[in-house]
Amino acid sequence: MIYLDNAATSFPKPQRCHEQALSEYFQISASPGRGGYDAAVLAQERVRAVREQVAAFFGGEGFVTCFGYNATDALNTLLQGLVKPGGHVVSTRLEHNSVLRPLHHLREAGVCTYDLVPCNRLGLVEPEAVARAIRPATELVVLNHASNVLGTVQPAAEIGAVCQERGVPLILDVSQSAGVTPIRMRQWGVAGLAFTGHKSLLGPTGIGGLVLDPALEVRPSRFGGTGLDSASPLPSREYPERLEAGTVNLLGILMLGRCLDYLQTPEAQEAGRREATLHRRLVEGLQDLAGVTLHCPGHGPQRVPLVSFNLAGWSPGDAGMVLDGDYGIAVRAGLHCAPLAHEDLGNGDAGAIRASLGRYSTGEDVEALLSALAEMLGAKS
Ligand code: ALA
Repeated sequence: MIYLDNAATSFPKPQRCHEQALSEYFQISASPGRGGYDAAVLAQERVRAVREQVAAFFGGEGFVTCFGYNATDALNTLLQGLVKPGGHVVSTRLEHNSVLRPLHHLREAGVCTYDLVPCNRLGLVEPEAVARAIRPATELVVLNHASNVLGTVQPAAEIGAVCQERGVPLILDVSQSAGVTPIRMRQWGVAGLAFTGHKSLLGPTGIGGLVLDPALEVRPSRFGGTGLDSASPLPSREYPERLEAGTVNLLGILMLGRCLDYLQTPEAQEAGRREATLHRRLVEGLQDLAGVTLHCPGHGPQRVPLVSFNLAGWSPGDAGMVLDGDYGIAVRAGLHCAPLAHEDLGNGDAGAIRASLGRYSTGEDVEALLSALAEMLGAKS
C-alpha cells in the first residue's frame, strides 16, 4: 500500500517508541491514582510526567492536561462544559464535525446559539471576521488550527489577541497541526486546546485530550470514580480528575509520551523537513496536471502537508476507489467530516480527493500518485 491518508491517522507508527512504551506498561500496569502501593504510585507518576510533557509541547507550561480518547472527545468536554444557557459561540465554516455536531446539538437543545465565520479565498480565517462575530453573549471562540480539507494553518496568535482583547476564551483544535507546526498556547492567548494522539503526534488511536488554563471552569459532563473524595456523590473539583472519570488509558499515555520524545529528536525533525519538501513537489506536480482542480494550493510553514483536489471526469468517490484498487494508493475521498468547507468550495455533495503526507512518506509515493492521476485523466480525455 502507498499510504497517503496521514490526515486520517499516521501510518506507519514509530514502532520502537510504541514497543518501549509497551514494555514499560508490562512493568507498571497498575491503576494510576487508585492505590498507595509502589506500582500504582509509579503509574501515577508516569502519567503526571506525560501530562506535563504534553502541556509543554503545546507551549502551555503550567496548564493542566486532561486525557480522553481523542480531539472529538476533548471538544465535546470543552463545549458542553463551558457553554451556558443563553450563551453564544463563534466558530468557523472550516470546522470538523467534532465541533459542528456538538454545536448543533447544543443549539437544538436550546442551550446556545452560534455563528460560523467563513474563510477567505486563500483558506484563511481573518481575525477581523472573528472580531466582528463576537457579541456581548459570546462565551467561546473555537478555531480549527489547520483545516483537514485545505491544509491551511490559521493565524492563531492574531485570533488569540482578538479574543484576549474581547475577554473571550479561545479554544484551538490542533488535530491536524499538532506535531507538524509549533503551537504556543500561552504566547498566542489560547485558553484551551483539543488534541488527538494518533495523527502527526504518531501515537496510537484512542488517546487524546485537552490542555487547559486552569482558570477556566469546565463543568464535567461525565461522572464517576476518580480515586479522590470517594465518599462524596459530587465530582472532583480538582483538575485533571474533574474531567477524567474512570481509569485513564495508561498504555496510550505512555506511547504518546514516547512519541513526543521522538518528535523532538533530530531524526524526526529531519523527517519533518523532508515531508515539507515532498508537499511542495506534490502541490507543484498537481498544478502541472491539466484536469486537476487544486483547492487553495500552497505549501510552506503555514500549511500542513495535505492537498485536496477534484479530477475532471471523475467523482471523488470513484477516483478514490480506482486509486486504491488499480494503483494500491490509499487516499480519502468525500467530505472528510467537514461538510461546510466542501460546501464553500462548491463541492458540498461529493467533496474532493485528499492526499496527505506523513513523516514516512517518500518521493516514490508522491510520484506514484501523480502518475496514477495522469493516467486516470488520460483515460477520460
Ligand atoms: N478527521 C480525520 C480526517 O480528516 C479523520 O480524515
